[in-house]
Amino acid sequence: MPPAPAAALFCIMLLSSALSHGASACSSALDCALSGDCVSGTCACDAAWSGPSCTTLNLVPMAPTQASSGAYRHATQTSWGANVLFSEEDNQYHMFVAEMANNCTLTSWIPNSQVTHATSPTIDGPYKFVSTLFETFHHNPRLTVDPATGDYLLFMIGGDLPSTPDCSGIPDADGEQYDTRIVVSSSPSLLGPWSTPSPPLVPQGSEDAWDYVVTNPSPIILQNGTTLMYYRGTPKYWNSSSAADGVGDELIESVGLAIAPHYLGPYTKPFDAPVLSYMNEDPFAYQDERGFHLLMHGRDDPLNTHVAWSPDGLSWSSGADIASGPDVELTDGTTVAFKNRERPQLFFDPTTNKPTHLFNGVCPTDHYGYAYTMVQEIQT
Ligand SMILES: *[C@@H]1O[C@H](CO)[C@@H](O)[C@H](O)[C@H]1NC(C)=O
Ligand SMILES: *[C@@H]1O[C@H](CO)[C@@H](O)[C@H](O)[C@H]1NC(C)=O
Ligand SMILES: *[C@@H]1O[C@H](CO)[C@@H](O)[C@H](O)[C@H]1NC(C)=O
Repeated sequence: MPPAPAAALFCIMLLSSALSHGASACSSALDCALSGDCVSGTCACDAAWSGPSCTTLNLVPMAPTQASSGAYRHATQTSWGANVLFSEEDNQYHMFVAEMANNCTLTSWIPNSQVTHATSPTIDGPYKFVSTLFETFHHNPRLTVDPATGDYLLFMIGGDLPSTPDCSGIPDADGEQYDTRIVVSSSPSLLGPWSTPSPPLVPQGSEDAWDYVVTNPSPIILQNGTTLMYYRGTPKYWNSSSAADGVGDELIESVGLAIAPHYLGPYTKPFDAPVLSYMNEDPFAYQDERGFHLLMHGRDDPLNTHVAWSPDGLSWSSGADIASGPDVELTDGTTVAFKNRERPQLFFDPTTNKPTHLFNGVCPTDHYGYAYTMVQEIQT
C-alpha cells in the first residue's frame, strides 16, 4: 500500500534536511564508528575523531623538529613501533619498542628484532635506551594491564633465534614464511623484572588456512579474564590461492580473532575467516564505553591507517575506513611523506581513558628498510 501523501511528504522533508547538511544521517552510535554519539540524526564525534561518521583521526600538526627527531630514533639502528605507558613509580613514560640488532634494517627483521625498553620524562620523547629486554627473535611488543592483578603484560611474537651479524634474513624455503608465535611476559612493575615468556598462545591455522602464520598480537582482556586476541593471519606461502573457503584470494593478510578464558589460554578461534572483510595488518585493539575498536595498517594504496568498530568484539565493520593517510602535517603548513607509516598504537590519558597520542613505525622515503619510531598528538 502506498504511503499517505502527508507521510510521504514528511519522509521527503527528512531526507532533504539530512542531505542539506552534507552528512550521512545516523540512527545510533554504531553509524558514528562508536567514536561519537548520534544526536538528532547527525554524529557528534569525540574530540579525537571527525568526519560525517567519526572515522577520521584528528591528528595535531607536528613541529618539524619532532617529525625528524621522532620519539625514539637512532642514526643507524632501526626501531619499529612502540607501546608506551606512564609509571607513577618513577614519573617516567615507559616505551617497549621493537629494535633490530647489529644495525640491521627491517629487511631482516626475522631474526634480528628484539624488544627494547626506553624511558622519557615526557610523552613525546626523545626516549632513551634502558635495556634490551628480550633478545632475538622478539617483535611486535604490545603492552597492556591484567585487570585481575594489575600486572603489566607484554605480548610479543618470537622465540630464541640467533641474530645475523651480516644482516641476512632467515633462510626462506620457497617463499614459506617463518612460523612466528605469540607469547606473553608479565611484570608487577614497568621497571621489571619481566617473567620468562610463556609458551606459544594462539594456535596456528592449518597448512592451507589464511592464518597459518599468526603475528601482531593485540589483546582485549575483559573484567572476568576472558581475552579477545586479535592477530594478523597470513598463509603459509605468499603465493597462496588456497585460503580458507569463503575468504577470497585477496584476503591473505587480515585480522583474525582467538578467544580464551584467561590471557594465558587456552585460545580457540570462533571463526574460520578473518573478522574483517578487508586486507589489514598491525591491529591495535581497544575497548571504550561504546564498544570495541581496531586501528590498523591498511593494505591499500597509499598505505593508509584504517579503523574498524564493533559493538561486541565479534562482528565488525569492514575495516576499509581510512583514519589517516601516511603523511604527516607539520605546524609550518608543509607535510612530510614517509615510505611506510605502520604499527599504529595509541596512548590513552590514564584519567579520561581517551586517546591522546599515536605512535608509529616510519621509514623515511630515501632510506629503504631503515625505520624509527614516531609520535603524533591527537586532538583532545
Ligand atoms: C651500529 O652503528 C653505530 C654507528 O656506526 C656504531 O657505533 C655501532 O657500534 C654499531 N653497532 C653494531 C652492533 O654494529
Ligand atoms: C565474561 O564476560 C563476557 C562479557 O561480559 C561474557 O560474554 C562472557 O560470557 C563472560 N565469561 C565467563 C566465563 O563468565
Ligand atoms: C606456492 O609455492 C610453493 C613453494 O614453491 C608451492 O609448493 C605451492 O604449490 C605454491 N602454491 C600455489 C597455490 O601456487
